This record gives sequence, structure tokens and C-alpha cells, in this order.
Amino acid sequence: MKITYLGHAAFAVAFNGKNLILDPFISPNELAQHIDVTALAADYILVSHGHSDHVADVETIAINTGASVISNYEIVSWFAEKGISGHPLNLGGTCKFEFGSLKYVNAVHSSVLPDGTYGGNPGGFVVWDAQQAFYFAGDTALHTDMQLIPLTCPKLDVAILPIGDNFTMGYADALLASDFIGCNKIIGCHYDTFGYIEIDHAAAKKAFAEKGKELILLDIGASIEL
Ligand code: NI
Ligand code: MN
Repeated sequence: MKITYLGHAAFAVAFNGKNLILDPFISPNELAQHIDVTALAADYILVSHGHSDHVADVETIAINTGASVISNYEIVSWFAEKGISGHPLNLGGTCKFEFGSLKYVNAVHSSVLPDGTYGGNPGGFVVWDAQQAFYFAGDTALHTDMQLIPLTCPKLDVAILPIGDNFTMGYADALLASDFIGCNKIIGCHYDTFGYIEIDHAAAKKAFAEKGKELILLDIGASIEL
């Protein structure tokens, strides 16, 4: 799999020959102005919850590419009214897609869509095939349900966790989360975009390194191949 950071909590993941876009908030992000939203390839857009800093570019990408939205029922229904196709899930549900299996897992956060429509329960995604697996936590606090992931999903190769604190867990809690999910390779997200979530990169990486773990902080536009 190839994971490209698009800023904030947005990623492009090439998985099994399909292009997944996660939580696209790119055009409003001052730090991501060098990313051209209209040039992104997408087969599916995974949306963890309804907040505008996760859905801002869903419509543009879906219209440009014909990609389907994968999210909870409420969010998929909201986009369906705009003519965008999608696949609804709810917490605990797994479904097989062209790219592999996807499970919608618990997140402890809130979820409302930009126009005030109820956005269902927030979630995260575990995606896997026979060879590899990743977890995208979405916006979440540290919570013990993360301990269910190693019991119910294949071994994770990498996990994308929020580390910016204030609106989500910070990196110290993300370090505990990495224990809960049994994964020592973590890609950080949801940091630095706004004043409330600016972090000390060196301190965050050091905290992980001291526990024999790796915290990867990708430049916006940079990729990692696994
Ligand atoms: Ni949020
Ligand atoms: Mn957010």
C-alpha cells in the first residue's frame, strides 16, 4: 500500500489497485495549498465523521472522479441527496469491497454535518486484504474499544492516529493507543492545522522512539510505501 499525506486528517491510500481518499479537507487548509484536489484519483472516499475539517472536499472529489463515499448511514444519506453514491455502514460492521475488507469501528468524538444535519456516530476504519492491514482512527479520544481491533481484525501494518490534542487525543494518548491496537508503526495526523493543535514534532517522535515505536510525520504531499 502507498499512503500519501494530504494535510490535516486527509490521506490518499493506494490499496490493492484502488485509490482511497480519507477525510478530504484540502482546499480550505492553508498548509495544503500545493495539493490540487481536482487532480486526485479516487475510487472510494472514506469519511470518518461529519465535521467540516473531514468532509470539505468530498463533493468535489466525488463529482470529478465518480468515487463512492463509504461512511456511516447518516453521512452516506446526506451525500446521496447531493447525487453522490455511497455505501452505508454502522459501528461494528465489516463489508467486502473491491480493494479488500473494511470494518467501521468505534471512535469517541462527535459528528455533525456542515449544515447542522446529524452526522451519526463518529468512527474509524480498519482496511485489510490477505497481505496487509491499516487502521485509520478518525477523530477520537483514546478508548479501550481499541483493544478489540487486534481481536477482530488482522495484524495491522500501520495505523493513522490523531496526535494534535485539544479536539482529539494527543500524542501521549496515541502512544497508549498503539499498545491497544498492537501496532508500532504510527502515522500522525490532525496536528498543526490550527493554533489549538500545534505540536512539538521532536518531542512527539521521541516519546514513541523511547518505547521502541515509530511515529511518522509526513510532509504534506509526501508518501510512504509499505
Ligand atoms: Ni471532528
Ligand atoms: Mn477534526
